[in-house]
Amino acid sequence: TKRTPLIAGNWKMNLDHLQAVAFVQKLHWALKDAKHEFDTVDVSVFPPFTDLRSVQTLIDADKIPFGLGAQDLSVHDSGAYTGEVSGAFLKRLDVASVIIGHSERREYHSEGDDVVAAKTKAALKHGLVPVICVGETAEDLETHGASAVPVGQLETALDGVASSAEIVVAYEPVWAIGSGQAATPEQAQEVCAKLRQVVAAKLGDDAAARTRVLYGGSVKAANIASFMRQPDVDGALVGGASLLVDEFAAIVRFQK
Ligand code: G3H
Repeated sequence: TKRTPLIAGNWKMNLDHLQAVAFVQKLHWALKDAKHEFDTVDVSVFPPFTDLRSVQTLIDADKIPFGLGAQDLSVHDSGAYTGEVSGAFLKRLDVASVIIGHSERREYHSEGDDVVAAKTKAALKHGLVPVICVGETAEDLETHGASAVPVGQLETALDGVASSAEIVVAYEPVWAIGSGQAATPEQAQEVCAKLRQVVAAKLGDDAAARTRVLYGGSVKAANIASFMRQPDVDGALVGGASLLVDEFAAIVRFQK
């Protein structure tokens, strides 16, 4: 099975809606100037909620071939949940995917595997592709090795998910996020292969063959190719470098 690589930019809490529009335009121009072939690599951006409407309008008006994603969603559909955003609202805005279980949500908002599993189901219910983030802390790595924690996190997230579901898995070792210290390509390959086995065990071989497994954690233009050469790494979830037009464009244009 040939999987189209996916380069996803998680902006985290950066760029307001005016900056977001300028950024997306510049990124599109940079890729067009470089004569980038857009159908060879999928590009998605994950702006803050307040940017989504503006970015969606721009993408639609200028026919910009970027996927639009959100950084979180509520487990609920609607109702008395102050501050929450429903998957139904995201879908109405032509948002295609949503990051779930990012380590920053797990750490600063106490999201455990149960919440991640519920959000995965909420996303699928509303026709959104969940980008399920898993990864071990430095302490986990020391005690259990690299793969035990992410494998367990993904197993729980996929409980009760239909085998036909479209999902994306992102392996992000917590110690590699924003640290400048990326995992080695071999480490990333080893864990991503194990995560694909989890998808096979939970959703079946067809799902495992078509599901994209991303690596994230200090990805930049200088190291993207080394990750993309790994057979089980299908792309990257990029944080810091996704906020720099030329750097992100170079990541999208990786040469294996
Ligand atoms: O979601 C993105 C990750 O947290 C990676 O962030 O590229 O700044 O290390 P980073």
